Amino acid sequence: MSNFKVYVTENIPSQGLDLLRSQGVEVEVWSYDNPISTEELKAVLKDCDGLISMLGHKIDKGLIEACPKLKVISNYAVGYNNIDIEAASKNSIAVGNTPDVLTDATADLAMALLLSLSRRIRESNYSVHEGHWEKWEPLGFLGKSLKGKTLGVIGLGRIGMAFAKRCRDGFGMKLIHYSKSEKQGFNKTSLDTLLKESDVISLHCPLNEETNQLLGYDKLKLTKKDCILINTARGEVIVQDDLIKVLKEGHFFGVGLDVTAPEPIDPNSPLLGIERVLITPHIGSADIETRDAMSLLTAKNILAGLNKKPLPAFVNPEVWR
Ligand code: NAP
Ligand code: GLV
Ligand code: GLV
Repeated sequence: MSNFKVYVTENIPSQGLDLLRSQGVEVEVWSYDNPISTEELKAVLKDCDGLISMLGHKIDKGLIEACPKLKVISNYAVGYNNIDIEAASKNSIAVGNTPDVLTDATADLAMALLLSLSRRIRESNYSVHEGHWEKWEPLGFLGKSLKGKTLGVIGLGRIGMAFAKRCRDGFGMKLIHYSKSEKQGFNKTSLDTLLKESDVISLHCPLNEETNQLLGYDKLKLTKKDCILINTARGEVIVQDDLIKVLKEGHFFGVGLDVTAPEPIDPNSPLLGIERVLITPHIGSADIETRDAMSLLTAKNILAGLNKKPLPAFVNPEVWR
């Protein structure tokens, strides 16, 4: 497979890049600390056949149409809301992503956020570092038990289900969900019912036209006042200014966000000053084993796309029909 060239917009674990190079593909990696700009990407992609993109890079119609050689895009993420899929398909560009291999890692992170909030790890850890640990306090840092509580999952797909099973099997929680389709054996409700009845709400839907700004002020106000809200999906699913407003009104026992809008979060965001808000910098899939597996799957998508074969994780299988 000589003569093919692939561009990678951030350095990723080497497995996938080694695989591509072993197949004779030329691989070039953006190696600067600052993210590549759209203009820079446009310039480097002029003579590239494949692109390995990160979720923060917008691959829009303009960029796609400016890259006539491009045959395949492999997003180093399962979510592909950063890519204009319709424009890719119209231009005969296959698009791949990284489902399944990151399911457990992301569910683990959602669980970590939930337990940290329910047991007030952020505040209690901070208090130790500040020198405030003076005695054992019967009434200090009282959290909330998860046992018997109701978990509401918005988007009971791969990650939503993995998270729900952790909560159900590990912590004795009851599950309700709001998804597009029915899931046999699982209790589907309306969005409003889920918001009203859940003690813990966790978002696991993709960002699309229907889920963009799904949770605004009126919806957030439907939740129980001491509910815990976790978002490891996409920041744009929540109207962030409304979340701040509702938090300031005393709502929510805790809010855990691995994703924000925009990313990175504005350093002046009021969210950073609220003790019961725990924010991580979009690290859902960030464990070593997972990122290695994502690297390999990304490369396999590229190899398949260059060969006009079905991608192992194919977002737009209609592209060559
Ligand atoms: P998935 O298997 O496709 O699951 C998505 C679920 O959302 C499905 O159950 C789907 O319902 C549901 N859904 C779709 N549109 C909906 C709507 N309008 N309203 C309610 N539910 C809707 O995807 P996944 O692999 O679990 O990944 C989910 C998302 O997590 C990704 O798209 C990505 O944005 C995010 N993610 C974040 C991180 C991180 O680092 N924080 C890591 C990985 C993924 P049906 O089953 O009925 O279609
Ligand atoms: C991460 O957010 C992903 O979509 O993989
Ligand atoms: C706490 O450390 C206990 O022994 O109950």
